[in-house]
Amino acid sequence: MKAIRFHEFGGSEVLRYEDVDRPVPGTGQVLVRVAATSFNPVDDHIRAGALAEMMPITLPYVTGIDLAGTVVELGAEVTGLDVGDRVVAMLPLDSAGGAAEYALAPAESLAPAPQTIELVDAAALPLTGLAAWQTAFELAELKPGQTVLVNGAGGAVGSLVVQLAVDAGAHVTAVDAPQHADRLRGYGADRVVGPLDLAAGPAAVGGPFQVVVNHVRLSPEELAQLTNYVADGGVAASTAGPIPENPDRKVRSASLWVRSDGAQLTDLVAKVDAGRIRLHVAAHRPLGELAAVHEEAAAGRLPGKTVVLVD
Ligand SMILES: NC(=O)c1ccc[n+]([C@@H]2O[C@H](COP(=O)([O-])OP(=O)(O)OC[C@H]3O[C@@H](n4cnc5c(N)ncnc54)[C@H](OP(=O)(O)O)[C@@H]3O)[C@@H](O)[C@H]2O)c1
Repeated sequence: MKAIRFHEFGGSEVLRYEDVDRPVPGTGQVLVRVAATSFNPVDDHIRAGALAEMMPITLPYVTGIDLAGTVVELGAEVTGLDVGDRVVAMLPLDSAGGAAEYALAPAESLAPAPQTIELVDAAALPLTGLAAWQTAFELAELKPGQTVLVNGAGGAVGSLVVQLAVDAGAHVTAVDAPQHADRLRGYGADRVVGPLDLAAGPAAVGGPFQVVVNHVRLSPEELAQLTNYVADGGVAASTAGPIPENPDRKVRSASLWVRSDGAQLTDLVAKVDAGRIRLHVAAHRPLGELAAVHEEAAAGRLPGKTVVLVD
């Protein structure tokens, strides 16, 4: 089968489009014929070796953490799934494998694919959806009626955090560049503003807020300024670097390390099918162009969430 993998860490040039053996499902695993995967910023960090110390991987490594496809074979002791089921999954980061014609997924990572959108577009959901879910509900412990600032709200994770927060009954202030504003209003954000002037402080955007969620890569000094946007007793949650706590004001902080969770993903799929969250896919690219996708992401030229078509 065809797959995109790297044999050594490096830039996008280490990605090779090559023939590899079709994997065989072991106990508790499912073999999926992949319709699509999607690009996530962490794919770039893994390929570059930036996570090698904290998360050792075996080389060669087939890239692609997201997966949408069809079950073709069940390993031993797998129950509740059938050949032909359409599924989505976030694959384990340390073994991944989605950028291939066939991929192995732990059975517990799988959820039924949404029925109301194209199967390939469902590949935009797993990692970003789980990151949004875990940030909003596990780290921030978001409650109905709370005020929430989402920084980087127009991005892949931020767009889902905004929608999950609105769906949960929170009042959302969404921060991102103007080209995202109409879409963010459409998600139900109460207030949509351009990039923060951190020196101006929270009052300039209607804060402080009970919850601040950050998805923007900021310097340690800028992250420290974000603490000022959190109301006394509130919480800061970040997917892009830790926001310092402020014990005097009882402001706590938490950072995300996203994990695969089939039950949470099943819940996210139900929200997609109920029209309570919408996926914004900015581009579709064929598998053979994945190295170019990595290169464009590194150069800041990707138009947004990019689905990579395998089938
Ligand atoms: N630790 C984890 O488990 C985990 C999991 C998932 C994601 N992440 C990280 O979370 C971050 C977000 O991921 P993503 O997939 O959502 O990335 P993304 O789609 O690139 O989203 C980032 C968003 O931030 C916007 N932005 C950039 N600079 C800004 C600024 N100064 N003010 C306001 N908005 C700004 C971008 O706008 P433009 O598009 O206009 O540039 C974009 O809409 C990444 O750093 C990713 O690595 C971490």
